Amino acid sequence: MWIIDRAFVFALVAASSFTPVYVLDFCQNTDADCHRHDAASNNQPSPQTVKSRWNRNVSHLLHDLDQFKVSCRKLIESFPLDEVDGNFVRTVKNCLFSKCIPTPLKGPLRLAAVSKDVIEEILDLDMAVTQSEDFLRYVSGDRLFPGSEPLAHRYGGHQFGYWAGQLGDGRAHFLGQYSNRKGEIWELQLKGSGKTPYSRSGDGRAVIRSSVREFLCSEAMHFLGVPTSRAASLTVSDEPVVRDQFYNGNVKTERGAVVLRLTKSWFRIGSLEILAQSGETDLLRKLLNFMIDQHFSYISLSDPEKYVVFYSTVVNETAHLIAQWMSVGFAHGVCNTDNFSLLSITIDYGPFGFMESYDPNFVPNASDDEGRYSIGAQAQVGLFNLEKLLAALRPVLTQIQQKRAQIILKGYADLYQMRIHQLFKAKLGLLGEDENDRYLIAFLLKMMEDTQSDFTMTFRQLSEVSAEQLLNMNFTQMWALDDLLSHLLFSDWLNMYLLRLSRQQNDTDLDRQQRMKNVNPRYVLRNWMAESAIRKAEMNDFSEVELLHQILSSPFVTQETAEEAGYAARPPRWAERLKVSCSS
Ligand SMILES: *[C@@H]1O[C@H](CO)[C@@H](O)[C@H](O)[C@H]1NC(C)=O
Ligand SMILES: *[C@@H]1O[C@H](CO)[C@@H](O)[C@H](O)[C@H]1NC(C)=O
Ligand SMILES: *[C@@H]1O[C@H](CO)[C@@H](O)[C@H](O)[C@H]1NC(C)=O
Ligand SMILES: *[C@@H]1O[C@H](CO)[C@@H](O)[C@H](O)[C@H]1NC(C)=O
Ligand SMILES: *[C@@H]1O[C@H](CO)[C@@H](O)[C@H](O)[C@H]1NC(C)=O
Ligand SMILES: *[C@@H]1O[C@H](CO)[C@@H](O)[C@H](O)[C@H]1NC(C)=O
Repeated sequence: MWIIDRAFVFALVAASSFTPVYVLDFCQNTDADCHRHDAASNNQPSPQTVKSRWNRNVSHLLHDLDQFKVSCRKLIESFPLDEVDGNFVRTVKNCLFSKCIPTPLKGPLRLAAVSKDVIEEILDLDMAVTQSEDFLRYVSGDRLFPGSEPLAHRYGGHQFGYWAGQLGDGRAHFLGQYSNRKGEIWELQLKGSGKTPYSRSGDGRAVIRSSVREFLCSEAMHFLGVPTSRAASLTVSDEPVVRDQFYNGNVKTERGAVVLRLTKSWFRIGSLEILAQSGETDLLRKLLNFMIDQHFSYISLSDPEKYVVFYSTVVNETAHLIAQWMSVGFAHGVCNTDNFSLLSITIDYGPFGFMESYDPNFVPNASDDEGRYSIGAQAQVGLFNLEKLLAALRPVLTQIQQKRAQIILKGYADLYQMRIHQLFKAKLGLLGEDENDRYLIAFLLKMMEDTQSDFTMTFRQLSEVSAEQLLNMNFTQMWALDDLLSHLLFSDWLNMYLLRLSRQQNDTDLDRQQRMKNVNPRYVLRNWMAESAIRKAEMNDFSEVELLHQILSSPFVTQETAEEAGYAARPPRWAERLKVSCSS
């Protein structure tokens, strides 16, 4: 039998220094909901929700934008505000937010894309309102929703391994919270809406290129089942924005765009870090209590262990999130602590990328020469970020609690491995446990690496072939499997796989295929697809943005328009030379 080095398994988790199995025992004593918070249980309706659904009127959607109200009161009343007024760059102390009004973009404004799912299911708005001039003004920062008192958030962070000091919302404005009819609270934010006290040397703008990517990818990730911020709309303007896309002196004038994005909370690891670093311990405690109260409701504020339980949840959920990224081949690109959400959802879409040929060293950011944020390093970077979170919690933990938190952190690798194992088992349609499963998965990934097989389509095509076709190695029109087939050991692996499948009692080949098709997407937002849509969008043709948005809303379903567009085909030649830059 072919011996695979452990390194291959770590092609998944580039880390060899992990110490195994520590039990989170104090947590297991509490109730079964111990590790659940609202980000993870999105789709479980609360009793209230169920009730309000019963009462639901089919014409429940708002037709009048002026009736759409948001509120900043909860945040403003919970935390002190920056005492300095005025929109100029400065160091800010002893607060979490500065008041700051968006700077409208130069018109004419055009609505390039809108997410029906977000508009109707989260914001309770009728799609018809998005056609109005008012809508455009609201979602571009030109006009404020009733109740809105815009804020820019002060945070810090570790970037590329080092403490970077004060960062903050340099081109984003928090508009307010919206309580929807399901009883959920969502925080609305504009990105690209102008300068704030945290803009440093930036101009507060975002260009069409990066905004199209954020809009499309956050929606695509949601439909892939990965926890993420959402995007409601994408507005483009005629405002010139100057960018040096590859930091090589090649300055280009692009156009400004704004995304209206939302999540249940925009607080990041860096939100806590800046308070700890500045010695603002009271405020640190206040923010933690707020998070626990609002988002980790199974933790009691009177529990002396509350911060440790909070930490264990974030460790667990972060491990899960990164495992989910890996299972769809997503590389975030800038996993700095300021870009890691305390709710462990994907936020801040910058130079991300979906891996095409399987390669653990895949780096989406063209300037990241060291590969710090390569796809295979994400689990390790997650660990680094969680270490920094622990450091930020230290001022509010006793010695004993710090030790406990350390032990929890040591369990991270196992949580991650466990989750990765489950996800990849599901990707292969495996039921139950077999001691050779790890080997089977690692073996496949190693072959994929050797043959540079496409990550997404290899798994998808394995879901689409019948066992009989597999047995005969009949891969007509299965280009990814055809690549894999060139591996010398392919038939060895195939025999193992078929044998494993044949031992699954109570399973049929059709069931296996269906299960696999439900977890292995046929379409992901490949760079070349985004690039092609961006080129058109820059010429005010948003048809391809719309097409991609629509297709990526059902990534597991084969769609004729997508097939015609070649979205499941071998990537075109020109795509090979594409680079993603970080300037956005
Ligand atoms: C639903 O709402 C509309 C308008 O608000 C109203 O005219 C209608 O009577 C309502 N229907 C029910 C069944 O409550
Ligand atoms: C981690 O979270 C998952 C759900 O997201 C839960 O099923 C699991 O029990 C948690 N594990 C630990 C050790 O907290
Ligand atoms: C966080 O991610 C965004 C991508 O939207 C990126 O522009 C920004 O530089 C990142 N923050 C830091 C501090 O790296
Ligand atoms: C890409 O990587 C380079 C080198 O590590 C880094 O300087 C740059 O800030 C990164 N881009 C982003 C958006 O983080
Ligand atoms: C290969 O599979 C295709 C699609 O299922 C089928 O139409 C074809 O007859 C098969 N060819 C052989 C040689 O079995
Ligand atoms: C076999 O499948 C049936 C129907 O799906 C299910 O009720 C039964 O529990 C399964 N048996 C085993 C051993 O998994």
